Amino acid sequence: MSKFYITTPIYYPSGNPHIGHCYTTVACDSIARYKRMQGYDVMFLTGTDEHGQKIEEKAKGLGVTPKEYVDEVVLNYKKLWEYMNISYDRYIRTTDDYHVEAVQKIFNELYDRGYIYKGEYKGKYCTPCESFWTSSQLDENGCCPECHREVKEASEEAYFFKMSPFADRIEKLLTETDYLRPKTRAAELVNNFIKPGLEDLCVSRTSFTWGIPVTFDPGHVVYVWVDALSNYCTALGYQNGRYDDFDKFWPADVHMVAKDIMRFHAIIWPAILMALELPLPEHLAVHGWITFNGQKMSKSLGNVVDPFILGERYGSDAIRYHIMREMALGADSSFSNEVMINRINSDLANGLGNLVSRTVAMAQKYFGSTLIKERQEGEFDDELISQALALRERVDEFVDKTQINDALAEIFTLVSRSNKYIDETEPWILAKDEKNKARLATVLYNLLESIRIIATLLNSFMPSTMPKIFEQIGASESDITYENAAKWNVLPKNVTVRRGDIIFPRFDVDKEIDELNKIIGEQKASEQSDSGFKAAPVADEITIDDFAKLDLRIAEVKSCEKVKRSKKLLCLQLDDGLGGRQVVSGIAEWYKPEDLVGKKIILVANLKPVKLCGVESNGMICAADTAEGGAGVIFPDQSLPNGTKIR
Ligand code: MSP
Repeated sequence: MSKFYITTPIYYPSGNPHIGHCYTTVACDSIARYKRMQGYDVMFLTGTDEHGQKIEEKAKGLGVTPKEYVDEVVLNYKKLWEYMNISYDRYIRTTDDYHVEAVQKIFNELYDRGYIYKGEYKGKYCTPCESFWTSSQLDENGCCPECHREVKEASEEAYFFKMSPFADRIEKLLTETDYLRPKTRAAELVNNFIKPGLEDLCVSRTSFTWGIPVTFDPGHVVYVWVDALSNYCTALGYQNGRYDDFDKFWPADVHMVAKDIMRFHAIIWPAILMALELPLPEHLAVHGWITFNGQKMSKSLGNVVDPFILGERYGSDAIRYHIMREMALGADSSFSNEVMINRINSDLANGLGNLVSRTVAMAQKYFGSTLIKERQEGEFDDELISQALALRERVDEFVDKTQINDALAEIFTLVSRSNKYIDETEPWILAKDEKNKARLATVLYNLLESIRIIATLLNSFMPSTMPKIFEQIGASESDITYENAAKWNVLPKNVTVRRGDIIFPRFDVDKEIDELNKIIGEQKASEQSDSGFKAAPVADEITIDDFAKLDLRIAEVKSCEKVKRSKKLLCLQLDDGLGGRQVVSGIAEWYKPEDLVGKKIILVANLKPVKLCGVESNGMICAADTAEGGAGVIFPDQSLPNGTKIR
């Protein structure tokens, strides 16, 4: 039996997963199920990426240990995968002992082979963000790309991985093989990273401790991406005794990732494997983001994106279908509740659901549920049958090319064709005359056969609902095999249908949008109190004199505009009761200029002026950290005069 190994990225356990996180896992699950149906011995891996500074900080903020924090959040992911019917074969956590041990061995082996050396990390350091940046990462003004403050030259001891020996092989991998999908993305990788000369990669850190220690230099922890990427091998037992599947399953057949982590999988991962002299994965499938208003989705902003809430209302299969159908490999797909409901109505309720319910209802009405064995072929049969019999091969091809949306579109052309066949053959007219009984039975049988093929091929994509269809059309286990999906006359001639509940209900779009808007409102209101938000511990004590050093005042936003070439900064002109001043604030992701004009804010008036993105900022406006890592501006009483001091 041939093997098939497919992986999702391992997720950062941060907060609550949203619908954007579901895409890769749902797509991989569908492929894994399809391959199992084809008879492959499948290994489907997913997991969580649990080390790193961000997690260390997050846990600190919540007053728990990093391990306590990840243990808690991992449960959210596992719960979600169960809910979305994800059939993973293995779940790796990078905090698992066997993985830690294996990563240490991998690091040592790369060191012993001469690919890792100790050096000095020189870079631009942003003190407030505690981050090093390379020159190419800095913003247009040579400032920190995160907070846009000035950076300074700094250095720290670190280990480096030599990338240059692999540049030629990686370029060939990307441009001459079928590794990268879609291949059109190869040019940006080659031009941006390989042609300018592959820089050695800094693979250890000393600035935090929540990571895998380098065994021979314990002040260093292994860079989180080396730790994370290795999971694809360690989960099979590479360099550890926990599993024994490496020889069988490696190399991976498909790594699927979104575009933001393409470079790590297209360049760094192959380089590590080359250094370890391991075979390279067959394919890297890169998809776009599920976006909202053109931005990578986060839990927020006018759409319900909580997969549990959406699943409760529409069913997890409808959600699976929608996100897979919307996303073309390589492109982004914009998410909207309205588009989703319309798609559920058109494709699932009116298309497939209607086909099944009409066919089963007619079989019940005209034959008391059991068809007669007599047959009479007629016009339109051949076209339907040949289209149905050709379907499996086309779906196979799209699944093999990881073009899931095309595979689904293909299956739904047979749904439309079958509905058209009903209109063409007009069974209700045939039913009027007893002498048409054989023809009527043939028409309904052809429809049932077509539905059997459709549902067999859809079963991997919508695994909770298809069994209901099999039940209704009277298909047994042996009828719904992969082999039979390219055969006709599989159901018994005198098949008995069983009418059941509506499989995909139709939704009233306006009503649903109203309901979802209500949910969004409620979510916003309860966000502070639930979602595990815990106040950060109180900072070190200060005296009233310390506080008096702060000059806080009421000021009013007179005008506001985006800082050019910056996604994060707004430039505000304030009336501070002292003649006015300009302040730059990093809140553009959460506020539009027009949201702020005319509003009173709290100004830190005696803050030393700085230049952010080349624009002078004289002070700061007060904002609170939101639970999702955003900022919420503090709006004081509008009646307070500008310039009033806050004590
Ligand atoms: N931990 C790394 C991956 C390491 S793999 C060796 C990571 N984790 S992540 O949780 O931030 O993201 C996991 C995957 O989810 C990434 O492919 C990421 O792009 C994807 N997505 C997160 N939000 C998404 C959307 N809105 N849309 C589509 N995919 C999204 O990166």
